[in-house]
Amino acid sequence: MGILSRSPTYGRRSEDNGMKLLATALFATAFGILLGLSFPSLWITKIWVPSNPKGAERLPPGIIASESDLYLRRLWGNPEEDLKKKPRYLVTFTVGYKQRQNIDACVKKFSDNFTIVLFHYDGRTSEWDDEFEWSKNVIHISVRKQTKWWYAKRFLHPDIVARYDYIFMWDEDLGVDHFDAEEYIHMVKKHGLEISQPGLDPEKGCTWQITKKREHVEVHKETDEKLEWCSNPPRPPCAAFVEIMAPVFSRDAWRCVWHMIQNDLVHGWGLDFALRRCVEEPAYEKIGIVDTQWIVHQFIPSLGSQGKEEDGKSPWQGVKDRCHMEWKMFERRVDEAEKEYFKSLQVQSPSNSTTLH
Ligand SMILES: *[C@@H]1O[C@H](CO)[C@@H](O)[C@H](O)[C@H]1NC(C)=O
Ligand SMILES: *[C@@H]1O[C@H](CO)[C@@H](O)[C@H](O)[C@H]1NC(C)=O
Repeated sequence: MGILSRSPTYGRRSEDNGMKLLATALFATAFGILLGLSFPSLWITKIWVPSNPKGAERLPPGIIASESDLYLRRLWGNPEEDLKKKPRYLVTFTVGYKQRQNIDACVKKFSDNFTIVLFHYDGRTSEWDDEFEWSKNVIHISVRKQTKWWYAKRFLHPDIVARYDYIFMWDEDLGVDHFDAEEYIHMVKKHGLEISQPGLDPEKGCTWQITKKREHVEVHKETDEKLEWCSNPPRPPCAAFVEIMAPVFSRDAWRCVWHMIQNDLVHGWGLDFALRRCVEEPAYEKIGIVDTQWIVHQFIPSLGSQGKEEDGKSPWQGVKDRCHMEWKMFERRVDEAEKEYFKSLQVQSPSNSTTLH
């Protein structure tokens, strides 16, 4: 206010001054340029590097460490000699103590080429060390009553896990008698799968046809679901589809998927139908099921017991209802985001996105 009311007076009496000021400024600029040319280093005293990561522009680029890893270091000695091994693969399990025997079996399937992270949803972590020697060398993250996708969003930022070629994000109730992790990686590389999962034992009953393990093939990428669900080009759940219980992501695919995970939608329902957005087209060639290394889904409703009885609904029912609600919400958000984007470009949306209810 003060400045506004004074400025007309200033304007009237300062026309002359203005000219002088301009001349001085011009002279100073010319002088500055001249001096700058002769002693360039004299004039750059501040660092501002626009190409640095956002917020780090004041730093000389050489000191910036914008990516990290989950390698464990020691507290002594030469840092360069800390790491005997730099695993290129990461596997995470979301676990409760009750499932420890199964997790023990799973962990033994992954060699020291893997970094192992356990997300504990029941607050019991130290007990694992008493029972399993390997437990002392893996990463334990303990936050009560959260889901795999909640942990992944908070602790597996793409910049944090940037060192890993492949990331396994697995549930705790998977039978791994017929699974070999190194062989799995071999298959995924051989067939160029950006997003994949092991085939599921058909004896155990599958939710979706496509994830059923097949005989006599290494991988498969398509199936015939109910005809009205499939389209051309093939779309989820007939192709370009894996379930959320045991997905494996390439580094690039994970970078995209992480961004698509919503902070409030913790169960990840619906995410499986949208994964195709995170790989190059045709998506159905980059997403597939590995048949030579397969697993058994044991359907242990562990997270359900972590719910809360409310309005006469059992904890399990409450969790299940929320899963379905989240699925609808996620679908709506994806649809709306896509529509908004095409609208902002003032073009017609090229296709209606997949919805399935
Ligand atoms: C670990 O990876 C290396 C390099 O790819 C491979 O030679 C080795 O056999 C792997 N270890 C196991 C236990 O498979
Ligand atoms: C998309 O959906 C609208 C109505 O929901 C329909 O009229 C239109 O034909 C659909 N477009 C495509 C390409 O399927």
